[in-house]
Order: sequence, then structure tokens, then C-alpha cells
Amino acid sequence: MIKKIFFLCLITLTLASDFSSQQYQSQKRTSKINQIWNEVVKNTSSSKFPSPLGLLVESMNPTLEHVSDQLPEGRKKQVHSVGSVAKAEFIAEKNLYTGFFQGADSLIIRFSLAKEPDYTHPGSQYAHDNFVPGIALKYLIDGQPSANLFAMHGVNGVYSYNFFDLDFNNHIPQPEGFQLTVVADKFSQGTNIVQFLGLRKFSEHTQDGKPVSNPNFPYMLTFKPYKQVKDLFTSDYTQDYKEILKKIPSGTLLFEVFATLSPAQTCKQKIGDIRTTSEITPSYFGDTELFFQHQDFTHDLEVHPEWEPYTPYWKLIGDKTAKKKEAKCPFSNLFF
Ligand SMILES: *[C@@H]1O[C@H](CO)[C@@H](O)[C@H](O)[C@H]1NC(C)=O
Repeated sequence: MIKKIFFLCLITLTLASDFSSQQYQSQKRTSKINQIWNEVVKNTSSSKFPSPLGLLVESMNPTLEHVSDQLPEGRKKQVHSVGSVAKAEFIAEKNLYTGFFQGADSLIIRFSLAKEPDYTHPGSQYAHDNFVPGIALKYLIDGQPSANLFAMHGVNGVYSYNFFDLDFNNHIPQPEGFQLTVVADKFSQGTNIVQFLGLRKFSEHTQDGKPVSNPNFPYMLTFKPYKQVKDLFTSDYTQDYKEILKKIPSGTLLFEVFATLSPAQTCKQKIGDIRTTSEITPSYFGDTELFFQHQDFTHDLEVHPEWEPYTPYWKLIGDKTAKKKEAKCPFSNLFF
């Protein structure tokens, strides 16, 4: 009996993926998410928080203009520097929005704190302006650059060390306190709308890369944590949130997603759920390289100029924000 042995020679190109190249962007979403995930799990220890002063010396424009899943070379994450990363999917319910809003199976989600927390005092009253959670979401699309969003409770956080204590919104209230005001002032070098992030890009392509002829996107998104994930935490500090996130298995429903149609009609409609499709892990790549582009709300206003009077503009001097109208939900007790 003759045994034939085939030697398979694999020439492994160890070149790091270039997450901004045309060659990368043109691939299928599954291929792109696999490349990102390979980098995410290569080193599951966290980076360190940088000195808060670093932000002052960097230009903010790249966070708006850089089209990539990777930070521009030589750039550091000055806020939200340390966090955990997971793969996830958006399971849509019947709704009138397009693109992402009709379902997405290739999402990257990152959980982070805006700044380094001080855990010296475990009492929940010490969490405010200290433990400031936020999430970032990346929607991978076949052949197209990803769409990205950020959502927070508000930049000062809440009186709780529970990461999931409150809903996350992609519109945030006016920041208080010197340090975060400096961040907003700095960010306003790139856009003068700092509290709102755009959703238009999420509506323009289905996940398989088909352009949508009449894109439709909501004014605002709200991520409401499911009780089972919220209950993993207590409002007093017990353990770093990244350790608790590790206990959440793949396939867990994390958030109910609600859409607000317009600022004149702010009642929230449930449009689907976010469910994890991997574990939630700390990641050196997540902390130092993974990039979530800020989508400028100005592009949303081009489609919906009637939203403009409700938009807060950030000013470097004087009254920090100015908007002409307050949003309303006349039937809030019925719908949410
Ligand atoms: C993993 O990341 C840490 C920084 O968080 C670094 O100190 C360590 O050298 C990295 N390990 C490898 C194998 O790259």
C-alpha cells in the first residue's frame, strides 16, 4: 500500500491588514469582520488610559473624516481609550427605516468608559462624573466602508457603577464639568454639532451592499439594556465592568433598540434587538487600533433640514449650546 503524502505549503503573509484600503473595503462584510476579530482576540489585555492632556495636541478632524476601521497611523484614542469588544447582530422588527434598520448580522460593538474611573469609593454616589459608560457600534457592509455610531447616557454618567443602569442614546445632553467641556470644545474643531451623531450612513446600504434608493433613517436611536444583563451588575462598585462583561455568553440579548422618528415627534418605537454573537473581551487592538468614525450630524440635516431648529450647536465662547426648539413626545405615556 502506497501512501501519498501531500505537503501543503502555506505562504502566510504576515502583513497587517490595512483597514482603510480599497482592497479591504471592497470585501464582503463576513471577511472584514473576521479580519477585525482576528486582531481583536490576538491580545486580550487592555491598554492604559493616556494622559488627558494628549487630546489638546491632536486635531479632531480625523475622527470625522478618516474612512477606515482602523485609527490613522500614530493616533491614540484620547477618550474611551480602554474597553471591551464583541461581535453582534441587529435583529429587526417591522419598521419603516432602510439599510441597517432592516437587519444586520455583522456588527462590532465596543463598551468603554469616557475616562479612567476612580474606584477608590465603591458607593454608587461616587460614580457620577467618574464612571461614564458608552458604547460604539460598527455596521459592516459588503463592498462599502462601515457605518458607525456612539451612544451614551450623557457624558457625565449616572450615580451608579452599573454599566447598564440607563439607556444609551446617540444624542447626549450637554456635558458638565471642566474636563469634559474641554473634550467637547476640542471636538467642535471638527463639527459644531457635538452632542448628536448622524445615522444617515446606516440607512444608505443594505448589509449586502445594495444602495437604497430612498434612504430613511430615524432622528435618534436608544439602546435599552435587557434586565438580565443589567442584573449582572450592582450600583455599588464590586469589580471592574470588563470582568463582568466577560461573563456574558455569545448569543445574549443585550439591548432593545428604539427609534425616534423626528424631534417634533419623539415617541420611541421598538425597531429590534441587539444580540451578541461572540464573547465580550478586553482587547489591545480594540483599545489602540479599532476605529469608529464619528458620522457628522450635518449630513442628516441635509436630508432633514426641518430638524435644524432642534439641534444644539456647540460654541467655544459664551452660552455653550444654542437650539431654538425643544423636542416633544405628546403621547409618551402611551408609547414608551
Ligand atoms: C499585549 O498588550 C499589552 C498591553 O496591554 C502589552 O504589554 C503586551 O506586550 C502585549 N502582548 C503581546 C504578546 O503583544
